[in-house]
Amino acid sequence: MRPFKLLGTCVLSISLSGAAYADTIKVGVIAPFSGRFAIWGKQFKEATDVYVAQNGTSVGGHTIEFIYKDSGGPNPDAAKSLAQELLIKDQVDYLAGFVFTPNALAVAPLISKSKTPTVIYNAATSIITTKSDYFVRTGFTLWQVSVPMANWAWDQGIRTVVTAVSDYGPGIDAENAFRTAFEAKGGEVLDSTRMPLSTTDFAPFMQRIKGARPDAVFGFLPAGPPTFAFTKSYNENDLKGAGIVFLGTGETDETTLKALGDGAIGLTTAYHYSGAHASDMNAAFTAKLDELHPGSVANLASVGAYDGVHLIYQMVAASTGGAGAIEAAKGLAWESPRGPVSIDPETRHITQNVYLRKVEKDATGKLINAEFQTIEAVPDLGLK
Ligand code: PHB
Repeated sequence: MRPFKLLGTCVLSISLSGAAYADTIKVGVIAPFSGRFAIWGKQFKEATDVYVAQNGTSVGGHTIEFIYKDSGGPNPDAAKSLAQELLIKDQVDYLAGFVFTPNALAVAPLISKSKTPTVIYNAATSIITTKSDYFVRTGFTLWQVSVPMANWAWDQGIRTVVTAVSDYGPGIDAENAFRTAFEAKGGEVLDSTRMPLSTTDFAPFMQRIKGARPDAVFGFLPAGPPTFAFTKSYNENDLKGAGIVFLGTGETDETTLKALGDGAIGLTTAYHYSGAHASDMNAAFTAKLDELHPGSVANLASVGAYDGVHLIYQMVAASTGGAGAIEAAKGLAWESPRGPVSIDPETRHITQNVYLRKVEKDATGKLINAEFQTIEAVPDLGLK
């Protein structure tokens, strides 16, 4: 619907359909494009480029336009003011992105007030989607992946664990999820370490874990420099040599695997996506990514964004925005490069397979997260 000026005297609202009069639907993407976590913004944008290259920019007679804003790392004040700018100045119809839980939580009141559908590509604390009816999430939650990890550990004969997590929302979810599932089986959590988000030296934590002599350590840190340093420190402090098995989620993410080197071989994680997932859809996705951005590798951020953009296109096809778009998202199901997914109508979170993976070398010598077990159609176990 567009205001249409007639004879210079009155303004009528005339419904114009067809591409020639199409409205532009604007999507404001808030993510880190600078600083320690800049890789996330890069991954989001490149995956969006792939989706657009495969599907075009036109949906239901509308043209989709993406506006990217740099929030830096975990910074709720920055996220909030960028959201305000996007909503008021840029007049966006949708918000998207969000790596960090505090950043997503900070925009909840704004999107509720403005009725702006907001697709979370990553921020992974379960509670987020309860904070506004306008949130939909295409990433994962720590409850979703940590419970399968705990169950698998028990099945392997692991009986004692130390948890070590970043001390904020998703870390606490990971700790609670692992403990709940592991203790339900009869396992024992010997110690629960919470590490400051800003920590870069993990040696003291590794010594504390070693001292507790558990069968395994289960960790969560935000993917990027923290996971890289934590995993490196596990190797340097020779926890493996001490017989302490590494259990994780995103620590072996594809963008850090190469730098981790052979020391990563054998690390076991439970996660919703491996860049090496064997499907035609993933092959097409990773090939297009490499064609558009040579050398780029697909990781969790890539599928969070790729499916997030897919969801936005589906919402736009059904309704231009607001509550109608959210209703259209509920129950949607599609095939993703990660496997089959759907949006749970109650939690507005993505239901998906969780894969147990081990780092190994493929036939070309490249380090990959090789999937060896699939737990199908897992919802957000933190809210279910
Ligand atoms: C989060 O803040 O929710 C978060 C950030 C990075 C991750 C996972 C979760 O890798």
